[in-house]
Amino acid sequence: MCGIFGYIGKKSTAAQIVFAGIKSLEYRGYDSWGVAVVPITNSKVVVKKRIGKIGTASVSDLPPGNIAIGHTRWATHGGVTEMNAHPHTDCLQSIALIHNGIIENYAQLKKELIKSNHKFISETDTEVATHLIEELSKTHEFALSVRMSFKQMTGLNAFIALNAHNQELIAIRNGSPLVIGFGEQENFIASDAPALLPLTHDVYFLKDDEMAVVTMSEVNIYDAANGKFKKIQPQRLDWKKTDASRGKFSYFMLKEIHEQPEIINTLVNQSSISTDQLADRIKKSYGTYLVGCGSSAYVSLAGTYLFSKIANKHINWAPASEFAYHLDFLTAKSLVIALSQSGETMDTLEAIKAAKNSGAQIGALLNVLGSTLYRESHYQLLIGAGIEKAVASTKAVTATLAQLVLLAYTLSDNKKIGQKILIQSVTSIQKLFNNVNNIKNIAHQLKNAHHIYIIGRGLSYPTALETALKIKEISYIHAEGFAAGELKHGVIALIEKGTPCIAYVPNDETYGANLAGAMEMKARGGNIIGISHKSHEIFDEYLEVQDAEEATIIPNIVVGQLLAYFLALEKNLDPDMPRNLAKSVTVK
Ligand code: F6R
Repeated sequence: MCGIFGYIGKKSTAAQIVFAGIKSLEYRGYDSWGVAVVPITNSKVVVKKRIGKIGTASVSDLPPGNIAIGHTRWATHGGVTEMNAHPHTDCLQSIALIHNGIIENYAQLKKELIKSNHKFISETDTEVATHLIEELSKTHEFALSVRMSFKQMTGLNAFIALNAHNQELIAIRNGSPLVIGFGEQENFIASDAPALLPLTHDVYFLKDDEMAVVTMSEVNIYDAANGKFKKIQPQRLDWKKTDASRGKFSYFMLKEIHEQPEIINTLVNQSSISTDQLADRIKKSYGTYLVGCGSSAYVSLAGTYLFSKIANKHINWAPASEFAYHLDFLTAKSLVIALSQSGETMDTLEAIKAAKNSGAQIGALLNVLGSTLYRESHYQLLIGAGIEKAVASTKAVTATLAQLVLLAYTLSDNKKIGQKILIQSVTSIQKLFNNVNNIKNIAHQLKNAHHIYIIGRGLSYPTALETALKIKEISYIHAEGFAAGELKHGVIALIEKGTPCIAYVPNDETYGANLAGAMEMKARGGNIIGISHKSHEIFDEYLEVQDAEEATIIPNIVVGQLLAYFLALEKNLDPDMPRNLAKSVTVK
């Protein structure tokens, strides 16, 4: 939530560098944006803020300067207005602040600051932090004021504070991510590493309760609690610069959908010791849980079916936000495996923190090396999906599924079969891409639908949930995925003449029962869109998905992604930036 970017260095185009940075972070929030720069000619911060997406805006009107910060907002405190957009400044325009998170005790702090004559012009909690730093810096040096302010605030937050007088940036966090980028006589701070790629590959992921004091020539890290200096080693990211651009595709989402075959092929061809180690840990543990949020929750649910079918292993499942209510079952012999693209989702992090406190071991399937989840887990399995920029997750979903297929087959000592069926799934996806017009046509037919119902059993149940989520997220059509067997227990009441009903009917043990579910819908007038390896007379529309055994879930999910994407286009919506959503949900 919220994109944060800071620059300090030899270039006098600080505002433009920061602007490019927040543009590339816009997937984290796009209610409003702002940039603050310290002009070369004086030390009063100049700020430009606008509401809405960045679009074709520019900051060419901002003065040259060597230090700037910028922010794309996903509103929490205060509505979407220019006043509430970040950066916020102090009374003297010599401090500017950008923030990600929620200051829980802001009202109480504000009351005290008003007594000391601080003037507030926004409704935000961030402005309170700005004035608190200003107040403390009257009697303390700047970095210490930031640290002291941070200690007074409750909640989970990340800040970059700009000090115009001393020309320094202070980054501090205890919840939301911040990454420091190292350059030659210039340094950067961003809320996500991909935003740094055009500028540097040398980074340090700031940990909770760490503070970075960043100047043109130096980055120093301190313990935020006691101010002690910490020696750190930057790490080198091996991501490609092209990962962060749309290339020949009109949207990141389409680009990312098309990257899936290559990602799965790469996963299949790499031999990973981490897979063997995690499989071994699952074997030894008494009780394993898969947890995640949103799409990652549905992938976790799919994991339970995969482990049961492939490895004869019972695995528990819970959405990460519900996991706290399962803690009573955990012991030191339990294993909790968190699934997360970003590795920064607050609900997921809270779940594993609680699990760790119960003594459980933590595993993680994730996309971002160095993320909080990566650091907090005992076993890490990277999914290698590369940077995912579209807000709705696609390639990370299927890459995680591919890792789960490999993990389950490794557990059953049949890794080669896992690799074989994943290669079949790649062929099946490619076939979908070749016949994409079929999906486009169905999107065209469904564009005015108010409700879409999606059924599946077994592995197709989480598939139905995931497809419904994608459709809701980016086309804003109400879609409901459910277990086909549950149809007759209630939802069938909603099916009437012409209701769009998508039925996943793959070539597995659920085939007959899924068809029966589709028939029940058809008998009530439902318009049946069958997704299957072969056509059937009850389908009004048919989308072919070539069988890939258990890995058929992967192309089946790709159908849902493409359908959601084309529905968004049919409705003239931007699939990359759906309303009200942000890429990584770093608040509770
Ligand atoms: C759906 C989507 C979200 C994320 C969820 C978890 O398209 O993108 O539901 O899956 O916010 O995010 P990660 O996987 O980063 O923990």
